[in-house]
Amino acid sequence: MSYENENLNNLNPYLQGPYAPVDTEIEAHQLEVVGEIPTDFGGAYFRNGPNPAKQPSGLHHWFDGDGMLHAIHFEDGQASYRNRFIQSNDYLADNSGTLQKAGIFSPAQADGSSTVYKNTANTDVVMHNGELMALWYISGKPVRLDAKTLSTLREDDFGGKLPNNVSAHSKVDMQTGEFLFFDYGLYDPWYSFGVVDRKNNLTHFTQIELPGPRLPHDMAITENYAILMDLPIVFTEQGLRHKVWSIHADPALPTRFGVLPRKGDGGQIKWFEFPGCYIYHVINAWEEGDNIVLYCCKMVENGRRLPIEYGPYAPMVNVLALRAVVTKWTMNLKTGVGREQQIDDTISEFPVINLGLTGRQTRHSYHGAIPDTETQMFDGILKYDLTDGSYKRHIFDKNVCGSEPAFAPRFNAKSEDDGYVVSFVTDISTRQSRVLIIDAQNIEGRPVAEVCLPQCVPLGFHGTWANLDEFQSSAY
Ligand SMILES: [Fe+2]
Repeated sequence: MSYENENLNNLNPYLQGPYAPVDTEIEAHQLEVVGEIPTDFGGAYFRNGPNPAKQPSGLHHWFDGDGMLHAIHFEDGQASYRNRFIQSNDYLADNSGTLQKAGIFSPAQADGSSTVYKNTANTDVVMHNGELMALWYISGKPVRLDAKTLSTLREDDFGGKLPNNVSAHSKVDMQTGEFLFFDYGLYDPWYSFGVVDRKNNLTHFTQIELPGPRLPHDMAITENYAILMDLPIVFTEQGLRHKVWSIHADPALPTRFGVLPRKGDGGQIKWFEFPGCYIYHVINAWEEGDNIVLYCCKMVENGRRLPIEYGPYAPMVNVLALRAVVTKWTMNLKTGVGREQQIDDTISEFPVINLGLTGRQTRHSYHGAIPDTETQMFDGILKYDLTDGSYKRHIFDKNVCGSEPAFAPRFNAKSEDDGYVVSFVTDISTRQSRVLIIDAQNIEGRPVAEVCLPQCVPLGFHGTWANLDEFQSSAY
């Protein structure tokens, strides 16, 4: 069956409704607020996501949209909103008509570099060294942006020392200011790990041996270690032969977590093997004596029919329907013994924590609650207590869906969850967006304040929170 371009776009649910891109970059101050913005917190919530700058001319995957950041800044009880395209080098080349890279649906012949797709930097965003860094799930050059204006500053290579690329979900340790990153690709070396210090100097880099190229999506850190993933998503034989990105799940392979001293050589990695599973997102990890404790959202059987009403997009829609449960892995560094334990059977994903405690013991995490819809969206926020797997739920209003939330600490916070959970939400029918500010210690209650936004924030991927003191300058 063939489809005209117009039909193709109409069949793609990730170009419609709350996913439809916006075509304006705006800045707005003194926004209308329902309730009152608390004055005992300050900083900004940033969210990355795909936003095709041009009408797609062929099959379009949600993951291929140009990166756009949306930001809401809170200070002294006032809120400001901005959104900007992430101007990666590939974005600029595409705009000037010189880009020769394909998207997921166009078989991409590798040309000797590890990125054969357009680097949109659309996946993740972190705050490091006073600037934002937009990161991409396929591994690309990180894109630095001004945290106040969202202007693109440069593609970063850490003073020319970055050997190759950086993947989304690399981690910032707020207690040391370091950025700990991983890189993966189709070509040997298939996996690398590095550390960048708080002043943006590459201080450590090592290669990790794997049985073959893999497709990891996340990593974890603890106070002294990095935890790297070897998951059973591998490249097909045909893909490897023709140097084409073609992947599949291999049910014969295990899931392995590699525990590596932060400044260790790749040869020092200690692998722990578990039954095969796929993991998109880490919740957090830490050390308890000789044990490494790792919490993730573990993917479970989808169990869904192929939604054929989406035509050629049916497989994409099926894969994007996230089905994951909170799971704990414990790995003893002395005995080499590992243990896997499912903590709860509720479906949730896009977990976030109090970022100041990344790599340190945490009790609480905040997840997108996933309704039984065909496409990926959240109808609320689950606040988990990881000690017993229980949760409390914040339910969004009817027809409202949200993005990955962020935890914003109160000034002089007294405990881990002393602060607010913030999230962009969008009404599916009207495309009107708001930012919810929810008391984290009363997650089930109505939001403390709702900030009305002047345009739609389409559903997207990952976000972050940055406190006021993380900005290079105090003026916004
Ligand atoms: Fe992700």
